[in-house]
Amino acid sequence: MRCSLKLLVPVIFLAVPALALAQSSSRFNVGTPLSQQEIKSFDFMIGPDGKELPPGHGSPKDGSAIFAKRCQVCHGQNGEGGAIRRLVLGSPGNPFRGPFRDNEKSALSYYPYATVVWDYINRAMPASNPGSLTADEVYSLVAFLFYRNGIIKETDVLDEKTLPKVEMPNRHGFVPDIPVYPPEPKPSWW
Ligand code: HEC
Repeated sequence: MRCSLKLLVPVIFLAVPALALAQSSSRFNVGTPLSQQEIKSFDFMIGPDGKELPPGHGSPKDGSAIFAKRCQVCHGQNGEGGAIRRLVLGSPGNPFRGPFRDNEKSALSYYPYATVVWDYINRAMPASNPGSLTADEVYSLVAFLFYRNGIIKETDVLDEKTLPKVEMPNRHGFVPDIPVYPPEPKPSWW
């Protein structure tokens, strides 16, 4: 008898929440399905060819003012190194083509595709309020940062058509993990 009482107490403790779960209207009563609206709010990845890019446009000049207001506090004047992270290597007319060492790999010149920069800024920046930029603001910021990195000219305008055509300075600086022969212009993993 003593023995079965010892068993009974934990069984009761386990059974009460289990019963509560079983009686709830949805099966386990944990979480709710995401609405289409909620899924849409983070389902906006831009691939290398940029076909998902939204319409919009921006120039380095437009981007300069937005950068000073919303980005400079962390990334320094003109993105040239602030409290957080340098976004610019090279200079207007003079892109940095490597070699890239550890701390330089985080500057924009390292990225293989222009559209990746758009996607990153749109999704993650400013770090204090990600997702708060409009499409035009993102095009403008990318244009400004590309100009400062020597990737485009000061008079160029970026939009959903021109951005994917921008050739990044390190575009062919990546080699496949497993070498292929004959070498392809496109990395073999893509
Ligand atoms: C509150 C500080 C803060 C602000 C403001 C901010 N950033 Fe950042 N940014 C960061 C941090 C922190 C990282 C590094 C994030 C990581 O590595 O996970 C970063 C990374 C980046 C990168 C990626 C660099 C790389 O490593 O490849 C870009 C591009 C960038 N920020 C652009 C911007 C732009 C454009 C703005 C203005 C709209 C902005 N950031 C505003 C903090 C900030």
